Amino acid sequence: MAERLSLTFFASRLLPTGKALLPHFQLKQPHQLPLNSLSSFSTISRRRPVSLSQSLQRKGSIVRSYAGSPVSVTSFASDPDQLKKAREDIRQLLKTTFCHPIMVRLGWHDAGTYNKNIEEWPQRGGANGSLRFEIELKHAANAGLVNALKLLQPIKEKYSGVTYADLFQLASATAIEEAGGPKIPMKYGRVDANGPDQCPEEGRLPDAGPPSPADHLRDVFYRMGLNDKDIVALSGAHTLGRSRPERSGWGKPETKYTKDGPGAPGGQSWTVQWLKFDNSYFKDIKEKRDEDLLVLPTDAVLFEDPSFKEYAEKYASDQDAFFKDYAEAHAKLSNLGAKFDPPEGFSVDEEPPATTEKFVAASYSTEGSKKRELSDAMKQKIRAEYEAIGGSPDKPLKSNYFLNIMILVAALAFLTSLLGS
Ligand code: HEM
Repeated sequence: MAERLSLTFFASRLLPTGKALLPHFQLKQPHQLPLNSLSSFSTISRRRPVSLSQSLQRKGSIVRSYAGSPVSVTSFASDPDQLKKAREDIRQLLKTTFCHPIMVRLGWHDAGTYNKNIEEWPQRGGANGSLRFEIELKHAANAGLVNALKLLQPIKEKYSGVTYADLFQLASATAIEEAGGPKIPMKYGRVDANGPDQCPEEGRLPDAGPPSPADHLRDVFYRMGLNDKDIVALSGAHTLGRSRPERSGWGKPETKYTKDGPGAPGGQSWTVQWLKFDNSYFKDIKEKRDEDLLVLPTDAVLFEDPSFKEYAEKYASDQDAFFKDYAEAHAKLSNLGAKFDPPEGFSVDEEPPATTEKFVAASYSTEGSKKRELSDAMKQKIRAEYEAIGGSPDKPLKSNYFLNIMILVAALAFLTSLLGS
């Protein structure tokens, strides 16, 4: 719903100013911007000074680095605890607004400007949050993405210790997972580009209808350092969402699958269940069975180019293979051009399950002084043995008449045999 009201609203109120939507060092001018507008995105990339209590909280808190080793959090680009909380808020947002597709597109368009031939950050583009600036939002390829920013704005305000670059990628990966897609092996700690002058030039993202779609896709994705498998797997993200003629110029204004929403109605989807992440994108393109489903020239080529086709066929028949390759390619995409702090990034996923207890052949010598606890299985075994002879490990002897009689009989027999001899 929020999506419905905001595009024209923002387009008319903000974009014509010609200024950066989110100028980093510029003071807010409340009279120019509506309340609850993107003006508050100006509290951006540089971390706010950390308060003493925050700094104490952070010091000594331990998270797992992406490499798996525990590291202590002192000065990461984003605060891991805040990232986790932001993820919960994103989950709620997705449940109430069905904005999964646009969040995925937002993350992709921030990262997809990466140029591997440029070494300097942030000039090389990529996942650095620069898409929050008006100049980049106004690129034709980004039409409509201002709505995604608006939805994320309150979350950014609540968690100022999370960078935009991380927030965009967090929202995208969470959207995939919440729509039923694979778990993406994400890492965080992306540093934000901090001014509109650091935005990439227009034209780095792909066109949907170029003269030679396969060549064009390779030009664009190879420039990002991605390969044919990544191109096909990532295109599978079109299993979610719709194309709207008033934004990209592609698609029908509405179809039988989109006329009632969910979310803002309208547009043309690639799949019937366009809020469910599965492999139906590949199946539907292959079968070409429904006029109401969209196939862009860059989608169709996935079943025409021999190298792309190999993957597209595989994904159409094997959802697990698609999920596996998609998760890998998505994680790769989300890291493009990013500068991480700490340099190796960190994960905010739950700790890996503890490994099973290590087998120790013999450790008697050092353990002598420690009280050793019996395992439950051993306790049960001992109890069963006691009970078999009418006893109990809790009160072994007092009530164990049978055992006492047996001992008495044995002693008498022993004495008798002694006397006899
Ligand atoms: C391969 C080249 C690609 C082309 C030419 C392309 C083109 C497009 C176009 C024209 C739209 C419609 C936008 C609109 O009208 O609102 C769109 C939407 C979308 N794209 Fe792509 N795309 C490409 C790759 C990707 C990739 C790599 C991803 C993600 C990993 C992606 C995710 C999406 C999503 C989720 C939507 C739906 C957005 C919504 O419903 O609001 N696309 N894309």
